[in-house]
Amino acid sequence: MLRSKTCGELRKNDLGLPVTLAGWVDSVRDHSGVLFINLRDRYGLTQIVFLQEGLNDEMFNTVRSLHPEDVVQITGTVRLRPEGIVNKKIPTGEIEVNAEKIIVLNRTEIVPFQPSAPELPAEETRLQYRYLDLRRPAMQKTLLLRHRITKVLRDYFDELGFVEIETPMLGKSTPEGARDYLVPSRVAQGQFYALPQSPQLYKQILMIAGYDRYFQIARCFRDEDLRADRQPEFTQMDLEMSFVDSEDIIEIINGLMARLMKEVLGRELKLPIPRMAYDEAMERFGHDAPDLRFGMELIDLTDIAKETEFRVFRGVADSGGRVRAINAKNAAEKYSRKDIDGLNNWVIEQFGAKGVAWLKVDSQGTLTGPIAKNFTEPQLQQMAERLHVEAGDFLLFSADTFEVTCKVLNGLRRRLAAELKLIDPKEMNFCWVVQFPMFDWDAEEQRWIAMHHPFTAPLESDLPYLTNTEPETFAPGKVRAKAYDLVLNGFEAGGGTIRIHDSQIQSKVFDLLGLSMETAKEQFGFLLNALQFGAPPHGGIALGLDRLVMLFGGLDNIRDCIAFPKTAKAADLMTGAPSHVAVKQLNELAIRVVES
Ligand code: AMO
Ligand code: AMP
Repeated sequence: MLRSKTCGELRKNDLGLPVTLAGWVDSVRDHSGVLFINLRDRYGLTQIVFLQEGLNDEMFNTVRSLHPEDVVQITGTVRLRPEGIVNKKIPTGEIEVNAEKIIVLNRTEIVPFQPSAPELPAEETRLQYRYLDLRRPAMQKTLLLRHRITKVLRDYFDELGFVEIETPMLGKSTPEGARDYLVPSRVAQGQFYALPQSPQLYKQILMIAGYDRYFQIARCFRDEDLRADRQPEFTQMDLEMSFVDSEDIIEIINGLMARLMKEVLGRELKLPIPRMAYDEAMERFGHDAPDLRFGMELIDLTDIAKETEFRVFRGVADSGGRVRAINAKNAAEKYSRKDIDGLNNWVIEQFGAKGVAWLKVDSQGTLTGPIAKNFTEPQLQQMAERLHVEAGDFLLFSADTFEVTCKVLNGLRRRLAAELKLIDPKEMNFCWVVQFPMFDWDAEEQRWIAMHHPFTAPLESDLPYLTNTEPETFAPGKVRAKAYDLVLNGFEAGGGTIRIHDSQIQSKVFDLLGLSMETAKEQFGFLLNALQFGAPPHGGIALGLDRLVMLFGGLDNIRDCIAFPKTAKAADLMTGAPSHVAVKQLNELAIRVVES
């Protein structure tokens, strides 16, 4: 080794120890006659002192010529820092190394940004020079956290008898919902593999093959629009179990979350993790991954709206829409007319709403604002009661279809909670959302679509809505699935389902989705075949590992949890992928690029 200790390990009781350290120059300070270097590696920072008396001129000049990010090796002796200059912020802050020798292992070019600088450069720069960005202690902390979480997961599943099995990257396109990344075949020209959107069908086949408990840290690929919590290439902690029902999967994941909380954050998690039905989540929070760290729940006022003369509310209520509101406690003073105009434009642009109406509660407890005149005194009173108003509250109303009011009020609720600082950043709030609808009616295409994937099992109690033929009792929209999502701090951290293992129910589902047996066979005939050869009841779940790291690390961006992430345009700025390839490569694949 080129070193005897790391830059993070020396302490007071190492006093007098001769050491050799190696690392990056974090900073150089010249205090006429005494030079200081902060030397950095992934373990920490150590202060190195060069006293002019002890060193020859050449060595002293070498130190003077150093730049941040030069790589050096230093030999010296540990000594205590004088009283006044102990640095309590770092673990090595009580000592320093009195240098006797320095070897410059490598000099750096001028860096485009310094990893130790307090101000971060633009994200493009960080992504382009990812190796410099990854030197930052904050990034190293996150990647170590990721390692830790992965290690705890593996130990946990191993102890419970799960087997880690790899599934192919080059596979067949599966109906997971997003667009596939395709890989052309050279051998079979004109044919393509798809990169897996998830190992879904393979893991079901592993259950049919008798592996009973499977898990995998699996890379998944989805060509979809990217957001702060989405990447085109991401990692799932994927699992599947045989002879189980929803309860068993939920219990296994509850145990995992408690274990992660304890081993990664040193905190207790009270079990069981609470559950909420999908319908309740949409009614109270307007979202299927509700953030339960603060209140401001959605309150329905449709019945009151029907009685009013306010055309915006009345019109919507009379035509089957909903009028709902949130009460931002004590926020009236914090939102000026200009701020409210901003909110109004935001909901129009973001959610396709027609606007947001508002009222403020003055110090007398009276509801005031331009729309107040549209309501009678008793109507105002009724709204005030239902919204539990107090002086100083700020009320926001959305009148629209149920879906739009959900989007608008969920959006406003989250935005206002952030702006009003209602969230304790340390809180880890878990919940399960269960009993999702199986199907969603696509009004545009006039057809049913699967909310999760077409292999999801319905709740037995709801089966008649699917199997009955009389129009009164055939109601696919009422069928609830054996589906469960794990929600953490308002993000979907994971989702899974119990699968259909009965081929009759499976074909009913295909029928409803307008999927002919022929198409189904073509797309995933291998699974349908396998299901005929003794499929055990089975189900599973996948947790988004990158998202878990983001949430356990208290970060707000998934890119910071991935060593080499992609931009919103799915580009890798460091390597320059995607890129053009040689014509020869394309010819081998029989592919011609058409310029558009
Ligand atoms: P699902 O599609 O819900 O389920 O994905 C499971 C979890 O993966 C994470 N996730 C993502 N993370 C980052 N970037 C993305 N683009 C992205 N997409 C999804 C989320 C999500 O909860 N095969 C099923 C699981 C099952 O039924 O067992 C599946 O993939 O945290
Ligand atoms: P108007 O009477 O058209 O001036 O609208 C009064 C207020 O209601 C304005 O602040 C609008 O932004 C708001 N508004 C308009 N349509 C809706 C709607 N569908 N839901 C909630 N507020 C709305």
